[in-house]
Amino acid sequence: MINAALYDAKPYDCEYFERFSKHNNIDWHFHEFRLSAKTAASAAGMHAVCVFVNDRIDRACILELAKLEVKLIALRCAGFNNVDLLAAKELGVSVARVPAYSPHAVAEHTIGLLLTLNRHIHRAYNRVREHNFSLNGLVGFDLAGKTIGIIGTGKIGRIAAQIFRGFNCRVVAFDVTPHLDWAKQHDVEYTQLESLLQNSDIISLHVPLTPETHHLICRETLQQIKQGAFLINTSRGKLVDTTALIESLKKNHLGGVALDVYEEEEGIFFEDHSEHLLQDDELNLLLTFPNVLITSHQAFLTQEALSEIAITTINNIVQFTNNKSINPENKLC
Ligand code: NAI
Repeated sequence: MINAALYDAKPYDCEYFERFSKHNNIDWHFHEFRLSAKTAASAAGMHAVCVFVNDRIDRACILELAKLEVKLIALRCAGFNNVDLLAAKELGVSVARVPAYSPHAVAEHTIGLLLTLNRHIHRAYNRVREHNFSLNGLVGFDLAGKTIGIIGTGKIGRIAAQIFRGFNCRVVAFDVTPHLDWAKQHDVEYTQLESLLQNSDIISLHVPLTPETHHLICRETLQQIKQGAFLINTSRGKLVDTTALIESLKKNHLGGVALDVYEEEEGIFFEDHSEHLLQDDELNLLLTFPNVLITSHQAFLTQEALSEIAITTINNIVQFTNNKSINPENKLC
C-alpha cells in the first residue's frame, strides 16, 4: 500500500483522485490545509505528498519532509514556482509535476473571460435577472479584425492563438523560443515584445512565472500598451504589477482587464471569504472597477483537466514508489 497525503484538498480533488485510484494501491490522506514547513509534520509515514499551486514548498518545508523520509513531492499542476527545486535536489527529495493536462481548458477560459468582459455578459446576466432589460452601457466591440498579442506561445498560448484566428483576429506573438512552423501554418506573426505591446488591441499572457517574467507587465510596459487595449492574465498573478495596473486603469489607459490569477492570490483564491472583510485593498479596489473581471484561478477547472491531473499524478507516484523512476517529461528533479 502506498501512503500519500494530498494537501489543499477540495471536494473535486478528492472525487477525481479517489475515482482514478481504484486499481492502484494508494491510501489517500486528504488534508484541507496547505503544506508548508509548519504543517509538514502531517506527512509522517507518507511515501509521497501531493501539492497544488499555493502550497509553500520552500527549503524549510522540504527539510521537514526529508527528515520524515518523504521521498516524492508530486505536484498536481504544471507551474512549479512555489517549489525550491535546488533544495529538493540537495536534500534528495524528487519532484514530479503534470506538465500538460488540458491546455484547451485554460485557453478556452481566456476567450470566455474576454467575451464576458467585452460584451458585458456578467452585467447583462444580473440585469435581466432583476427584470432590467435595458442595454445602456453594454456596448462591446467585434473581435473580428482586432489584433491579439499572445505573450508566450507554449501549449496554452498556441491554442489561444488558434481560437483567436477562428474569430478572424490578426494574431501577433512574442516568445523567447518561437514556433516558426506553427506560426506559418496558422498565420501568426512573431514580433518583439515592444511592438506587440504597441500594436495589440488585446494582450493575453501565457508565459510561466520566472525571475525574467516577474512583473513583465509593469509601469514601463503598460505605458507601451495602446490606449484602450484589454489585458488578460490566465497565467500567473505575479506577471503583473498590480499597483501599476490600477494606476493604468484609473488613468483610463487600459480599456479592460480580465484576471484568472492575481499577484497576492495566495490565501484568498480557492476559498470562500464571503463572511468577512477582505484585507487586500488592491483586490478590493479592482473588484469595484466595471471594466475588470476576476475569476479565482479556475481556468484549469474542467472534467478533462481534472481527470488528466489525477491520472498523471497517480502514475507519477506509483512509478516512483515501485521503481524510483519518473517519466522524464514529468520529472523536475
Ligand atoms: P509552456 O511551457 O508550454 O509554454 C510557456 C511558453 O512561454 C514557452 O513557449 C516559453 O518559451 C515561453 N517563455 C518562457 N519564458 C519566457 C519569457 N521570458 N519571455 C517570453 N516567452 C517566454 O506552458 P503552458 O502549458 O502553455 O502554460 C503557460 C502558463 O499557464 C503556466 O506556466 C502556468 O503559469 C499557467 N497556467 C495557468 C492555469 C490556470 O488555471 N490559470 C493552469 C495551467 C497553467
